[in-house]
Amino acid sequence: MIILISVGGLSKTFTLHTQGGAEIGVFDDISLEVRAGECICLHGPSGAGKSTLLRSLYANYKPDAGHIIVQHGDESIDLVNAEPWEVVEVRRRTIGYVSQFLRVIPRVATIDIVTEPATTIGIPADEAHAKAKALLARLNIPKRLWSLAPATFSGGEQQRVNIARGFMVDYPVLLLDEPTASLDAANRQSVVELIKEAKARGAAIVGIFHDEEVREAVADRLFKVAQSSVRKSRRNITAVEPVA
Ligand SMILES: Nc1ncnc2c1ncn2[C@@H]1O[C@H](COP(=O)(O)OP(=O)(O)O)[C@@H](O)[C@H]1O
Ligand SMILES: [Mg+2]
Repeated sequence: MIILISVGGLSKTFTLHTQGGAEIGVFDDISLEVRAGECICLHGPSGAGKSTLLRSLYANYKPDAGHIIVQHGDESIDLVNAEPWEVVEVRRRTIGYVSQFLRVIPRVATIDIVTEPATTIGIPADEAHAKAKALLARLNIPKRLWSLAPATFSGGEQQRVNIARGFMVDYPVLLLDEPTASLDAANRQSVVELIKEAKARGAAIVGIFHDEEVREAVADRLFKVAQSSVRKSRRNITAVEPVA
């Protein structure tokens, strides 16, 4: 099987400059490989460092040590030391990221927010629009909302717009931060189906799934992110274990 993301020796500490330079060790010496077609679930209590790890995989945070090798077309790129333009390219074509909350851009219509990742990489506008509409319909966003900016939408509606945007491009790697947290059962099921389809086409997925049913439906492995007993000390992340 092809390894699409390979993480080794990854450590991250936050330094709080506004609080006397206090250091918060979030994780230390993480190693993790994600293969094409598999979904790994980051698992652990709130504050354990799951979102920080996911953001590091998207190169939003710079780890203190270690590597994150991502397969980008024919190249292997280490995101820890990549140039900003390389990170932009990797995000355009290789890694999709569904954040926990939609970043609402005032006055931009829902349909355009969803379509944008596809048109940016040169997918023809009509094809992109057709796919965006299909995704919005699958995620039960009423048609009358498609031409409106999502600023006034409910939390669940905004999250579904965010998911539609994240699934517009068939990214080889997908990072999902609690995509079903504010959804009802029917919409959770739609998201489960989208994740299963992405796995079937060979996507490597790293996700945080609050909901046990969703976890059991999509996760191949759990990666435990454990909170250290000592604040300010480094936290331990234990090895991968199979889903029970
Ligand atoms: N930008 C940041 N600056 C400082 N500390 C942060 C930052 N982001 C997260 N943290 C801290 O890192 C720890 C892990 O947070 P997070 O990754 O959001 O946990 P989880 O997603 O597992 O709930 C928490 O103690 C949190 O307060
Ligand atoms: Mg989180």
